[in-house]
Amino acid sequence: MADKIRWGILGCGAIAHSFVKALTALPEARLAAVASRTPGKAEAFAKQYGAGAWFTEYTPLAESPDVDIIYVATTHNLHHDNVRLCLDRGKHVLCEKPFTVNERQALELFALAKRKKRFLMEAVWTRFLPGIQDIKAKLAAGVIGDIERLDANFWIQAPYDPAHRLYNKTLAGGALLDLGIYPLTFADIVFAGERPAEVTTRARLGRTGVDEASYYYLRYASGARAQLSSSCRAAAPIDAVIVGTKGCMHVPRFFFLQDYSIHLADNSQLPLKFPFRINGYEYEAVEAMRCLREELTESPLLTGEKTCAMLHMMDAMRKEWGLAYPGE
Ligand SMILES: NC(=O)c1ccc[n+]([C@@H]2O[C@H](COP(=O)([O-])OP(=O)(O)OC[C@H]3O[C@@H](n4cnc5c(N)ncnc54)[C@H](OP(=O)(O)O)[C@@H]3O)[C@@H](O)[C@H]2O)c1
Repeated sequence: MADKIRWGILGCGAIAHSFVKALTALPEARLAAVASRTPGKAEAFAKQYGAGAWFTEYTPLAESPDVDIIYVATTHNLHHDNVRLCLDRGKHVLCEKPFTVNERQALELFALAKRKKRFLMEAVWTRFLPGIQDIKAKLAAGVIGDIERLDANFWIQAPYDPAHRLYNKTLAGGALLDLGIYPLTFADIVFAGERPAEVTTRARLGRTGVDEASYYYLRYASGARAQLSSSCRAAAPIDAVIVGTKGCMHVPRFFFLQDYSIHLADNSQLPLKFPFRINGYEYEAVEAMRCLREELTESPLLTGEKTCAMLHMMDAMRKEWGLAYPGE
């Protein structure tokens, strides 16, 4: 492996800009090449961030000998084909969330990565943030006692546009896959990976047939509950509250956590801060590069099994609502 890990970017949309701003500030990374099928985008993106090469199709990027790992940043519906292309051509892959549209697609890709001995991980950036590691450690140490309840909601107001990826059924739109994955991930973090004993869900299917709002109620073996929801219909504070038998944690903006506070039963409060080194996307990139250097094909912080379990739960929810995407 070269001195610097050589990155390729597949899809030059909104999130690719955020990710590459972090990547290009990391001394151990080099932006080797980018690919976009939108006319003019790859060249403009490459020039903006100083990439060594640009392509107007994805295959030459996947075949480039100058690239070690590809970050897949297309819309959800394309992740399966895009990741398969990259693995087939021998590349390591970091793929945006949701990893694929359903569990079946994800299982196929993780099996392929195993056969090819390539690193593969879903880019759920929240899992790698320093503040999240701190919450995990404090919960494990019992700072707020036994967990009784988690509330976490991710609501945004996205202007109605049937072509936008949030509303477009062909692009696997809907709140669950795009936004709901964050409170569900947060529940997985808070309950230390424990699978809920019971999952109840409701959805408000909208004008294009996707869930514009959805609700997820999880019950755990201990009797603890998680009340979670997501929506693109209306905005509200994106907050989480973890309630324990000795106190609680208030976690504003839990999906890009930079601060949170602990409130104990004696009325004491402990505010904690975890400012990002760059913009927050650096931590998932650093973890991917650590794994490459250590020749790991999966990160212990987010294994293929965890990604598949999340999709399994989301598949079951969509089945209950009668929401299937084209081609499923
Ligand atoms: N981690 C995060 O914080 C975060 C935030 C936002 C989004 N995301 C995830 O990142 C992915 C991309 O989101 P985004 O907001 O960056 O999306 P976007 O800007 O709308 O699109 C990303 C790329 O997907 C391709 N694409 C978009 N619409 C297409 C269409 N109708 N037909 C064919 N290709 C199309 C284009 O690739 P080309 O450049 O090749 O044309 C586009 O540049 C999603 O899966 C989303 O869930 C993650």
